[in-house]
Amino acid sequence: MALIEIKGLTKLFGNRKAVDNVSFEIQKGEAFGLLGPNGAGKTTLVSMLVCLLRPTSGDAVLDGSSIVHDPMMVKRKIGFVPQEISLYGPLTALENLQFWAKMYDVPPRERTRKIEALLELVGLSDRKKERIDRYSGGMKRRINIAVGLLPDPKLLILDEPTVGVDPQSRSAILYTLRHLNQQGLTLLYTSHYMEEVEFLCPRVGIMDSGKIIALGTQEELRLLVGERDSLRIFTQTLVPEKIKDEISNVEGVSEVRTGENFIGLLATRGRRALPSILELLNERGVKVKSVEIKEPNLENVFLHLTGKELRE
Ligand SMILES: Nc1ncnc2c1ncn2[C@@H]1O[C@H](COP(=O)(O)OP(=O)(O)OP(=O)(O)O)[C@@H](O)[C@H]1O
Ligand SMILES: [Mg+2]
Repeated sequence: MALIEIKGLTKLFGNRKAVDNVSFEIQKGEAFGLLGPNGAGKTTLVSMLVCLLRPTSGDAVLDGSSIVHDPMMVKRKIGFVPQEISLYGPLTALENLQFWAKMYDVPPRERTRKIEALLELVGLSDRKKERIDRYSGGMKRRINIAVGLLPDPKLLILDEPTVGVDPQSRSAILYTLRHLNQQGLTLLYTSHYMEEVEFLCPRVGIMDSGKIIALGTQEELRLLVGERDSLRIFTQTLVPEKIKDEISNVEGVSEVRTGENFIGLLATRGRRALPSILELLNERGVKVKSVEIKEPNLENVFLHLTGKELRE
């Protein structure tokens, strides 16, 4: 069942289309990744979903409430972790959470318990009495996520929550989010780091210049561009010329190249083809030194679709 249905959302700044007729759905319980380079329109899109920005046209319906007609209801159902950190430096982490708990109308008798649980979740219970401006970038982000979770949202939207974050906090954030998703929380996660989206999000939309240019499961996106695994085999003994044709006959294998001590090829399912290839080499007396398999990834998909790198 769709938790949020986005229908033809468009946002114009002057005559620039920051978001251009975007439509897709996110199912209940999903972790959906929105991947796109700087300026793709990710922040503009999520700002409309959390009702901070009014769409020029189109709509999105979250759990029966429209962002255009019923923004108050939508706001109550969405937790938002913005790209810009929204915490008060001179206050402690605890005071920041108390402030936001009031803003989100968390009932007073639930506040303490909830705040403590969230501090525990993001691993900062023991630092809660320190001022935010003494926190590292990664710790601030983790508090930001706790803020996003205060209203018990049905959907948590995170806008590049790992930018400027140390590797340790980054992995803590990703594992926390995966845990929350496994507990049933629906996520919309924007990023320009393909490895984060690959880790967290089974289904991905790729955004560029305001448009969703591809959408599907990671597997579907990889197949979309017909990317195959690239196999490179290095040998100790000379590679006989005629083996090229024999390897080409292995199922799923194409574009075989050979050198004196090298065989390169593409395979639709590299790992499956490998045993047959190794057996063949063994039969022909070719000794293998090493094997490399490179799987297609979302970065390649993006490059293929746009001709651009995800990060410039
Ligand atoms: N308030 C604004 N006024 C005018 N133009 C804007 C405004 N906000 C965003 N834009 C433009 O809209 C486009 C999309 O910007 P947006 O911030 O949504 O991209 P993004 O995908 O979030 O990028 P990043 O990865 O850098 O955060 C850009 O060309 C940007 O310059
Ligand atoms: Mg942005």
